[in-house]
Order: sequence, then structure tokens, then C-alpha cells
Amino acid sequence: MRKIAFCLALAIGATYVSHVLAREDDGNLMKQAQSQFKPIPDELPTIKGITVTPERVELGKWLYFDPRLSRSWLISCNTCHNLALGGVDLEETSIGHGWAKGPRNAPTVLNAVFNVAQFWDGRAEDLAAQAQGPVQAGVEMNNTPERVKQTLRSIPEYVQSFRKAFPDDSNPVTFENMAEAIETFEATLLTPGSKFDQYLKGDAQALTKAEKKGLKLFMDKGCSSCHNGINLGGGGYYPFGVVEKPGSEILPTEDKGRFAVTNTASDEYVFKVPSLRNIELTPPYFHSGEVWDLEQAVAIMGSSQLGVDLNDNETAAIVTFLKTLTGEQPKVEYPILPPHTKGTPLPVI
Ligand code: HEM
Ligand code: HEM
Repeated sequence: MRKIAFCLALAIGATYVSHVLAREDDGNLMKQAQSQFKPIPDELPTIKGITVTPERVELGKWLYFDPRLSRSWLISCNTCHNLALGGVDLEETSIGHGWAKGPRNAPTVLNAVFNVAQFWDGRAEDLAAQAQGPVQAGVEMNNTPERVKQTLRSIPEYVQSFRKAFPDDSNPVTFENMAEAIETFEATLLTPGSKFDQYLKGDAQALTKAEKKGLKLFMDKGCSSCHNGINLGGGGYYPFGVVEKPGSEILPTEDKGRFAVTNTASDEYVFKVPSLRNIELTPPYFHSGEVWDLEQAVAIMGSSQLGVDLNDNETAAIVTFLKTLTGEQPKVEYPILPPHTKGTPLPVI
């Protein structure tokens, strides 16, 4: 009898110790994660250079959804950054004016306000500078600032809306204000509340054991040396192929990335580290959009960026973790846009 009681005590003791150790392990994991990542805030924080007013956000939303910013009246920002699809177009590289195929994959606009700069090569310093690009790009909306202004000024509701959004400007309907309003709307496109963010905020139960295993691998293998901070990326630039260059189908030789911006030899094939927020919603992956499978993308990262061959279990665990980065998608009511008038330049296909 005594022997049984002793064994029982021993078993209970061992279970208790392993529970405590597991909890300590969990605590350490959470601390390690909290030191490297930050949750997406529920409300837009103050961001330098962005004045958020309800009028500016509403105008920005109209513009974001208005295909009349494009020469063809067919393409809006939402065509390639579809808010029903995680802010992307699910194409390898984007299709723009006249069915032209662009050279790069469209990154998501969700949480983009937290990126250090915009575009794969960081050539736009912020969202307002960025928004002027696609409207004019031949392979995107193929319009001119002059024609856009003419379009917006020909629609009385737009003129009124610009006046309300930029009350201090005597001549508010400008190309720059268009971009600024779009930037303000984009800044509201945040995805808080992911399982990972609940964990970062202290809820140890928010992640399953498998997800925690993936998180641990993500940090221990070195992914978080580049994919860190609030967006698990978006904070800096690295060569694609730090250790080993992927094949030319994945890293096309003609796109030298940041080199085109800085003209510095060491920036050849350097790209902005993309955010991994909502990554399961935004295939295909990489600037070339050549990889549809997230596990394959993770395996390529292991060999190209870290020089490690992740085995199938490790890759799967990391992907299980990456799926916890999907947050609540912004609820956006589709705007009913004001009609054009006789003065509006008609579409050219
Ligand atoms: C990049 C917003 C129109 C395709 C971006 C980025 C933002 C953005 C914020 C950078 C994201 C990042 O670097 O993380 C907008 C807005 C648009 C617009 C506000 C409307 C004014 C379009 C259209 C297309 C498109 C119509 C497709 C035809 C792309 C592509 C990139 C990109 C391919 C990556 C280009 C590069 O890095 O060189 N867009 N976009 N965008 N967008 Fe758009
Ligand atoms: C791209 C995950 C390690 C820098 C990506 C993408 C994923 C990913 C899924 C594609 C994102 C997209 O297309 O939207 C990982 C994982 C890693 C890891 C799981 C660890 C195994 C690293 C490291 C660095 C890095 C250590 C920096 C040295 C980059 C860059 C890109 C990228 C520059 C963009 C490549 C391009 O398309 O040009 N990463 N990453 N990553 N990652 Fe990582």
C-alpha cells in the first residue's frame, strides 16, 4: 500500500514538474516573441505626416475604388489590391492597362502603413508618394496627373469632397491631395486581433502547441532576424539569396531590385523584406510571384537566406505558425461613386 502511495506521489510530482517546466518554457517563448514582434494596434496610431479626418478617409475610399482614375475606367487600386482578397490580386505579376503584364507581384496594402518604405525596392518613401505611381504607370492605370485632375474637377461631388477633406487649401483638387487622401484611407487598413497578436498581448492559450513549435522554429532558425517588428518584415532590405541565389525563374536576372534606386553595386538583387502579416491570404509569393505554395516559399527562404535545409516537419510547423498571422480583415463598405459629367474625359481603352 505504502509502495503504491509512494509511486503515485512520484508520478504526480513528475507531472507537476513537467507542467511547471512547460509553463516556464512557454513563458520564455512568449518573452522572446514579445522582444521581437509587436501586435497590430486596434486603432490607427498617430503617424508622422498623415492627418486622419473622417472626411479625408471617406474621400480616400472613393478614390481607392474609383476606376475612373485609370485611362480605361476599368482599373482601380482595388483591382490589384482587392480588399476582399487580403489586399492583393492573386496574380503572379499584375495585369494592368491593355492587359499589359507588369514585372512584379502586387504586395498587400493591408498594414502597409507600417512598412519603412513602399514597393519591393523601397523607391517610394511613403504611401502618398507611392499612390502617385500606379495612376501614371503604363502597365497599371496609364493615366496622367492632368487628366486625373480634369476628371475629378468635372465631378461636383468630388470637388465638394476634396474641399471638406482639405479645408485649408484654396485649390484642393490636386494630384498630390488625391494621393494624400488615398494614403489616409490606406492607413486605416489594419488587421488587428490575429491569434499571434492575442498571444503577444499575453494570452498563452491563443496559440496551440503546434503553432508555438512553429513560432519557436521561426525565431530559433533566424527568420525573425529579418522578419521582425510589427509587420514581421517591412523594416529593411536584404539580398534575395544572402547565402544561395534561387534559380532565375524565382529571382529573374533582369530585376536587380534596390540597385535601380541607389545605383550601388551592393544593392543588386536587394529587396524590401516583405511583411508576413496575412501571408496565407496573399499568394503567390516573392517579387516574381513564382511560388504559389507557402511551404515551398519557406523552404526557399531556409536555403537562400539562412543556408539551412529545413526538413518537411520544420517547414510545416513554420507554416502552421505563419497562419496565425491572419488578422481581422478591415470591414469596408463599398462606396457608391458620384456620376461623371459632360466635362469628364471619356475612357480610352
Ligand atoms: C505596390 C497601393 C494601384 C500593382 C503597391 C504598394 C502600395 C500600393 C501601397 C506598395 C506595398 C508595399 O511595398 O508593401 C496602390 C494604390 C493604387 C494602386 C493606392 C491606386 C492608386 C495598382 C494597380 C496595380 C498595382 C492598378 C496593377 C495593375 C502593384 C504592384 C506593386 C504595387 C505590381 C509592386 C510594384 C513594385 O514593387 O515595383 N501598390 N496600388 N497597384 N502595386 Fe499598387
Ligand atoms: C520573402 C518567410 C528568412 C528576407 C519571404 C516570403 C516568405 C518568407 C513567406 C515571401 C513573402 C511574400 O512574397 O509576400 C521567411 C521564413 C524565413 C525567412 C519562414 C526563415 C526560414 C529570411 C531571412 C531574411 C529574409 C533570414 C534576410 C536575410 C526576405 C526577403 C524577401 C523574403 C528580402 C523578399 C524576397 C523577394 O521576393 O525578393 N520570406 N523568411 N527572410 N524574405 Fe524571408
